[in-house]
Order: sequence, then structure tokens, then C-alpha cells
Amino acid sequence: MKEFKILAVVAFFTLVTYWGVEPFAHSQMHKHVESNNFSYDGKADIEEASKAIEVAKNITDANKKAKVLDAANKKLADKKAFWAEVSQVSKLKGNAAAGEASFAACMACHNGSGANMGGVIPPKLDNAGSLYDKNYLIALIKDPAMASNVDHKYDNTMMHPMGTVKTMITAPQQIADVVEFIKTKKVVKLTPQVAFEDACGRCHANRYGNLTQLGTTPKFKTEQEALTHRVKVLDEQDKIKAYMGKLPPDLSIIDRARSANFMETFIQDPQSQLPGTSMPRVGLSKDGYAMVQAYLEKTGDPSKEARHALGPWVIVFFIIFTMLAYLWKKSQWKDLH
Ligand code: HEC
Ligand code: HEC
Repeated sequence: MKEFKILAVVAFFTLVTYWGVEPFAHSQMHKHVESNNFSYDGKADIEEASKAIEVAKNITDANKKAKVLDAANKKLADKKAFWAEVSQVSKLKGNAAAGEASFAACMACHNGSGANMGGVIPPKLDNAGSLYDKNYLIALIKDPAMASNVDHKYDNTMMHPMGTVKTMITAPQQIADVVEFIKTKKVVKLTPQVAFEDACGRCHANRYGNLTQLGTTPKFKTEQEALTHRVKVLDEQDKIKAYMGKLPPDLSIIDRARSANFMETFIQDPQSQLPGTSMPRVGLSKDGYAMVQAYLEKTGDPSKEARHALGPWVIVFFIIFTMLAYLWKKSQWKDLH
């Protein structure tokens, strides 16, 4: 009976730690950010701009305060106007056939030639209809810097590398048409790895997935070839570093390092988790994120499937082992009683 009491006490404290203390510590160390469920309506961006006004109001130097407050008020008005326009375009009925012609303008840059453009290689758009959210695509074509919430990096003298799209496709109906074309275009070949390469791979390497910013690293016959390739990768990374201010981290095992809530909300709006970060918002759809997440899980925890498959067998083994041990004990003690 005593053993059972000890077991109960140990079990009690273990469970309190597991379900009580640990989650509490986590909630204190990492703030919980509300997910927007992969819908993009600008609410978070507008809230962020409103907070900047509150901060500006606390500046003591009157001259500086007036200037910063002016800029902050203007930013808030810009954000509100921008997302209201996105919502208007979103209500229009797009015509896919009419949008195909405009899509040719996108292909001028997104042609898969692998040429770096202002810091990164434009991603392939074969699967964009399934990877990205509709509202986000509208916003991106209207103004890439605003859509991905990195407009603070661009003033009049510097342009987002996709910035010229603003002057190419301007009429609301034209935007609705091209987005309808992208959304209804047949998906070419969407696997978790392709999703990662399209959405994240131009910036992030994944060593365990054998990916650099130049794609899958091939097998080389000679060391010279391998080194030539390595130099190309380093050159590409230098351009990304210059564009982003730092080299984006390798994402091989990020799935283990960060919680599911962090990953999801960081990708929807990096500023919500790391204010001031240079990583742009990636306007993934729910399905697009699930694909990317599956890839990160695979490279971060490659033995997960095997482990889960093995689990039930380990339990069966222990049940049989316990029964045998019990029978053995009985047979040993039989004569002593
Ligand atoms: C002037 C070249 C150029 C044109 C034209 C252009 N893009 Fe881009 N696009 C880029 C570059 C460069 C990036 C990568 C930007 C970055 O990572 O910061 C990009 C990124 C994207 C992304 C990924 C966005 C994200 O959040 O990850 C999508 C989707 C996209 N473009 C769609 C389009 C569509 C649709 C069109 C046509 C309506 C278009 N682009 C026209 C250069 C261009
Ligand atoms: C245009 C480049 C770019 C793209 C595209 C991009 N990232 Fe990033 N990412 C960055 C940069 C730059 C950082 C470093 C941010 C910092 O430290 O401020 C970063 C950091 C991160 C981090 C680390 C955050 C931390 O814990 O410090 C994660 C996780 C991440 N990115 C995930 C993704 C995923 C997943 C995708 C694709 C869906 C993606 N990123 C697409 C540029 C990019």
C-alpha cells in the first residue's frame, strides 16, 4: 500500500510540472500572438501603426515630437487607405482570361532564370495560387512593400525589388483579373519541398534538406566543381545579406527550436514577434503554410514517423515483459511462502 502512495505523490507532482509549471513558464518567456488564420486584412498593420502614435506622444522634445507624430499619423492614414482599397479590389469579380495577359508582366521577373534581382531571386509562381492568400496577392500587386509590411525600409529614393509592378498593373479590375488567373491556374507540382523553395528558399537555406538559396545542391564529380558551386552560393548569400541586413538563418531544425504559435504568427507577420525585423511578411494561405510546415517538420525531425510507428510495439513489449516478470517472481517466491 505504501508503494502506491509514493507512486501517487510522484505522479501528482510530475503532472503538475508537465501541465502547469512548464506551460506557464513558456507563456511568460514567449508572448502569445493571436493568429490571423492566414487571412490578410491589414488589421495587425493598422494596430501596429496606432501603437507607434502612442509611443510618439511620449517624446519629451517638443520639436522632435511634432515631427515623429506627424509621420506616425500619416503612416496610420496610409495603412488604413491601403487595406481599404485591397478590400475593394477583393470584392470585384475577376476574369481569369483577361488576367492572363497581365500575368506576362509578372513573368518578366518570375521566369525561373535564377537571376538575382535587387537582393533575391524572384520565386517561381507555378504554385502561387495555392501557396498565397487571395487578399495578400491583391495587396502585393498594389504595393509589395506595404503588403509584406516592410514599407518602413523604403523611402522615395529606394525601391522594393518588385516595386515596378505598381506602375505596370494599376486598375482595380486589372488586379482582380490577374489574381483570378493565378488563383485558378492549374497547380504544377506542389510538394512540401517545392512549397518551401517557392516561399522561403530564396532567403533561407535548409542544410538537412540539401538546399541552399540556389536550390538543391547537386552531386559533383570533382572538387573543383564543388568549390565553384560553393562560391556561387556565397556570392548569392552576400547579395541577400546586403538586401536584408543579415543572412537569414538556416531553417533545418527551426521546427524544434520554435513553438507552433511562434512559427505560424511569425510568418503571417514577422513584426508581431520581432519588431523591426527585416523579414517580410509571407502571405501564405492555410494550405500553403501546412505544406511549408510539413517540410520543416521533415528536416527538423526526420525520424518522427519511424518513432511513432515504433511506439505501439515498445508498449506491447513492455506489457509482455511485465507479465513475464510477474510470473517469474511468482515462481521464485512460491516455495518460500
Ligand atoms: C520587377 C520584377 C518583378 C515583377 C514585375 C513582379 N515581381 Fe513578384 N517578386 C519580385 C521579387 C524580386 C520578389 C522577391 C521579393 C522579396 O523577397 O523581398 C518577388 C516576390 C513575389 C512573391 C512572393 C511574395 C512573398 O510574400 O513571399 C509573389 C507571390 C510575387 N512576387 C508575385 C508577383 C505577381 C503576381 C506579379 C505580377 C502581377 C509580380 N510578382 C511581378 C520581382 C517581381
Ligand atoms: C525575403 C527574405 C525572406 C523570406 C522570403 C523568408 N524569410 Fe525568414 N527571415 C528572413 C530574415 C532576414 C530573417 C532574420 C530576421 C531577424 O533576425 O531579424 C528571417 C528569420 C526567420 C526565422 C527566425 C526567427 C527567429 O526566431 O529569430 C524564421 C523561423 C523564419 N525566418 C521563417 C521563414 C519561413 C518559414 C519562410 C517561408 C514561409 C521565410 N522565413 C521566408 C528573411 C526571409
